[in-house]
Amino acid sequence: MPAHRGLFISLEGIDGSGKSTQSHRLRDWFVSHGRDAIVTREPGGAPGAEDIRRLLVEGDPERWSPETEILLFTAARRDHLERTIRPALEAGRVVITDRFADSTRVYQGATRGDLRGLVDDIHDLVIAVEPDLTLILDMDPDIALTRGLARASGEDRFEDFGLPFQQKLRVGFLALAETAPQRCVVIDASRSPDIIADDIAAIVETRL
Ligand code: ADP
Ligand code: TYD
Repeated sequence: MPAHRGLFISLEGIDGSGKSTQSHRLRDWFVSHGRDAIVTREPGGAPGAEDIRRLLVEGDPERWSPETEILLFTAARRDHLERTIRPALEAGRVVITDRFADSTRVYQGATRGDLRGLVDDIHDLVIAVEPDLTLILDMDPDIALTRGLARASGEDRFEDFGLPFQQKLRVGFLALAETAPQRCVVIDASRSPDIIADDIAAIVETRL
């Protein structure tokens, strides 16, 4: 990606860990400090990518193989990058995304067979961008799953893989954070939303 003036931040973690809540809190924090900031999400974040999202998050858990999922998530990501992320960064804005490539690395790359090599190859070919900072919201999947399913959003295809799957995801995100310490910070997401938001604001201030 060409040099940009904006800031690119991703929030990652298991389903129901508070990514959406904290993305919006962080956007408000930036705005209160005079920065132009947007919140976006994956899969989705652009009209075409939102169409692809519906194919991914609704329906039977076995609807797609992990390989097909990698292609669909990456197609959605490419659209999101072209239409939303890159233009905003080039305009000097702060882009906060609720999930990015780390979700594919963990959900598709490390939970249902070892597909991490395929994920990395496709990422390098068509995305090849990393956030400036990734905040990994970490918590007990049992509690997160209850939070997430309580929403009854109809988008529960991944939650429907069940608790052992979410436990694998947690381990996957923590392992990923260790491999990219310059970019990733693990946050204890079991605390109150206010405390987490203060923690994230402090991290952003010191790291960026
Ligand atoms: P995610 O985007 O990671 O799925 P959300 O931000 O949508 O998570 O939060 C999932 C649910 O948990 C929502 O109902 C939200 O209001 C609630 N929630 C978010 N953060 C916390 C928190 N720190 N403590 C308790 N509940 C929370
Ligand atoms: P999301 O809306 O963030 O779900 P939640 O709010 O429950 O965390 O994402 C939808 C689902 O898609 C979620 O279960 C994670 C999954 N996902 C992947 O499997 N791979 C990916 O690359 C992305 C971006 C999401």
